[in-house]
Amino acid sequence: MRVASVLKARVRMAGSLSNWIFTVFVVGLIDSLEASMRPRVSFPQGSLERGLSTYHSSTVKNLTTLLLSTDANTLFVGAQDSVLSLDISQPDNITLKDKDCGNFVRILQFFNTTHLYACGTNAYGPQSIIIPADSLNSMREQTEAKNCCPYSSTQRNTATIVDGELYTATNIGYFGDKVISRCLSKGTRNNLMLDTEPKLLNAPVFISSTHISSEGKILLFFTEVGDLIGDSFVKSFTVSRVAQVCTDDNGGHRVLQKRWTSFVKSQLVCQQGDELQFNVLEDIVTLSDDDSPDNTLFYGVFTPQWSFSSAQSAVCAFSLGDIKVAFSGQYKTFDNVNHWSHYSNGDGKLGKCGLFNDTDSVLNTVKKTFLTERAVHPVGNKLLLSSTKELYSRLAVQRIRAANGQKYTVLFLLTESGFLHKVVLLDKAPHIIEEIQIFKQPQIVKNLILSTSKGVIFIGSSEGVIRVPVSSCSVYPNCAECVLARDPFCGWDSEIGMCTTVSGSRPNLQQDVEDGNVTQQCTEFKNTAAGPATVTRTAQLNEIVVLPCQSRSRLDEVTWRFSDNSIVPQFPYLHQADHSLTFRVTQETVSTYRCVSEELGFRQTIVSFSVKLPVTPRSFTHPSHEHPDVTQDSSKVTDMEPIPKDDILFDETEPTEGKKTTAWTTGTDRGNVIQARHNPMNSAEKAVCISEKSYYAEMVAFCLLFIMCACLFIAFVVLWKHSMRCNRTTPEKNPKDTETDNICQTELEDKQTPNS
Ligand SMILES: *[C@@H]1O[C@H](CO)[C@@H](O)[C@H](O)[C@H]1NC(C)=O
Ligand SMILES: *[C@@H]1O[C@H](CO)[C@@H](O)[C@H](O)[C@H]1NC(C)=O
Ligand SMILES: *[C@@H]1O[C@H](CO)[C@@H](O)[C@H](O)[C@H]1NC(C)=O
Repeated sequence: MRVASVLKARVRMAGSLSNWIFTVFVVGLIDSLEASMRPRVSFPQGSLERGLSTYHSSTVKNLTTLLLSTDANTLFVGAQDSVLSLDISQPDNITLKDKDCGNFVRILQFFNTTHLYACGTNAYGPQSIIIPADSLNSMREQTEAKNCCPYSSTQRNTATIVDGELYTATNIGYFGDKVISRCLSKGTRNNLMLDTEPKLLNAPVFISSTHISSEGKILLFFTEVGDLIGDSFVKSFTVSRVAQVCTDDNGGHRVLQKRWTSFVKSQLVCQQGDELQFNVLEDIVTLSDDDSPDNTLFYGVFTPQWSFSSAQSAVCAFSLGDIKVAFSGQYKTFDNVNHWSHYSNGDGKLGKCGLFNDTDSVLNTVKKTFLTERAVHPVGNKLLLSSTKELYSRLAVQRIRAANGQKYTVLFLLTESGFLHKVVLLDKAPHIIEEIQIFKQPQIVKNLILSTSKGVIFIGSSEGVIRVPVSSCSVYPNCAECVLARDPFCGWDSEIGMCTTVSGSRPNLQQDVEDGNVTQQCTEFKNTAAGPATVTRTAQLNEIVVLPCQSRSRLDEVTWRFSDNSIVPQFPYLHQADHSLTFRVTQETVSTYRCVSEELGFRQTIVSFSVKLPVTPRSFTHPSHEHPDVTQDSSKVTDMEPIPKDDILFDETEPTEGKKTTAWTTGTDRGNVIQARHNPMNSAEKAVCISEKSYYAEMVAFCLLFIMCACLFIAFVVLWKHSMRCNRTTPEKNPKDTETDNICQTELEDKQTPNS
């Protein structure tokens, strides 16, 4: 922002060319703000620091469903040809406990505390089984599962079992009819389905369902093709929906017999102001609030149906309270194919449970009044996060108490490209703590399940099950790294000198999730820090040396510095994108180099090199005029007092302008380089330029391009005028082609003479 205001101020003084440049730069700035939605740390697949354990079997394909046992020691998996139970009680490996081979399992739920309900497509003849969870192979009966079990293996479905009754939303039958139904109803209770006339759903894709016991309702989340409600909806506009059915529903007596009397639906809108609507729900999870159920939140990942970028997604949270308000409000009544009218819901009956026992006239209204007028908007009317770089497709969410007792929401987002992003939601902006590469290839089938008690995420895919610990605090080697991570799971324990998992039993851990303020948290750091030992690198004259610098964080700013803390200039050095420094060894470049990273106001030396010539130098015969300016410079450097290491490490008093000098020094400006190194604040003008570091290269490139274009344009105009004149003169003065050039030449010369 500071950069932007400086730019603005400068541009106001300059002409229209600058204005244009400014516009180009602002677009660049927005891009760079987006770039701040970068994961701080990235772990590639196979990284030992962030180890994953996997279960993979060549006979188990397309894992469709994951189900955790209540003690989180067993993971049940529904796959293409089997149901598996995996032992996940050991932290390092996953082993197969039991396997039942059957059909393509699409639904896998706990039937009761001891048994599982599984159903599969069975080649278009859906079958279900109820099997003991601890012995999947035991004898059992398969029963036909008409109207309950998915007919095909490709479409998404959702199921919830409450008191042994199965609520499913799936496709059934050969024509792929979509239903929301209750099966396995107990005693005298009816199995229920959606009414068929009018059509209550329009080409739905079911995403998720959840039992809200405080309301006696099942909430269902899905997308469908939008209703044409008179206004400008495009015919194929997708809308995301939340719908309800009541568990006490038993269908009407005469009207709506064996049909839901409690089905209503609302639109879910993931949009901020008038900005792009993320209208396609991809996944949604529930974060319950047992103290006040209305504060239960549903976190959904959405993508836009139409967008300029191929990877764009957003996360929105909706509250149960807001959903209840929509369901108890006004409705639209469906009159015929395309016509809807307003229904005020004056008695507030619609959206309530218990209607199945009501009069025929009420049920006749219920029959055609199922869409709420009010849509459900996200909490705070804003997106929790949005990305134009990542296509998030699945998520898990956890509320975690940080070291200071404050609670934070952490999202685990699976990207289409195969990464898991761990994001903490902060008031200022979401912070992506880390990304972990899970797959190298995009997967067809994906599933994400979180065990908060075990602190692990399980990811099911076409290939197998992968376990990822929610945190791995020990990857942060010191207090500064631990605090800079801003991971609510991790804090620095100064007693044992380790970055450890935050838990109730270990209070007083050093952590600052909001600001990552190292100097405040890591007091002991100041006294004991010695920085890394300096590595000596002996090199021959004219040898090209490459000094590597690996900074774990991708949010820090890395600079190379001399021992006097001044910045290593752009010339004759090559600063690479991977932060390494490349240069040719000369008398002048023999020096000490420190790679310094700065993040959230904290500066630390990552690595330090002393580049030296061999003991018997042959170098004095070398022509010394090659870099005369720098020769002077380096002699000056050696004259300077070295700054004590502790000061360097915690040097926060140095003006920020000074350290960014590099950006404004170029090979054509070596005199200034030297000045900048020894007197970084030598003029106010420099200070202004300096704070715009990262755009300098672009500006130079842009200006060069602009000048080239201008030259081309001028050249074109000159040539064009020239040729016009030739065309004019040729026929009159000289019909002979061969002489035209001469004539034009002469004319031009004639014209130019008076000017010169
Ligand atoms: C769970 O359901 C199965 C199948 O109906 C039944 O045999 C078993 O006794 C039930 N278990 C409990 C604890 O109710
Ligand atoms: C199952 O996996 C195979 C590859 O392992 C894939 O070709 C197929 O499309 C998958 N089926 C479904 C329904 O995802
Ligand atoms: C249905 O209504 C009748 C009276 O109209 C009442 O006696 C009965 O208890 C009600 N049943 C339920 C399940 O609410």
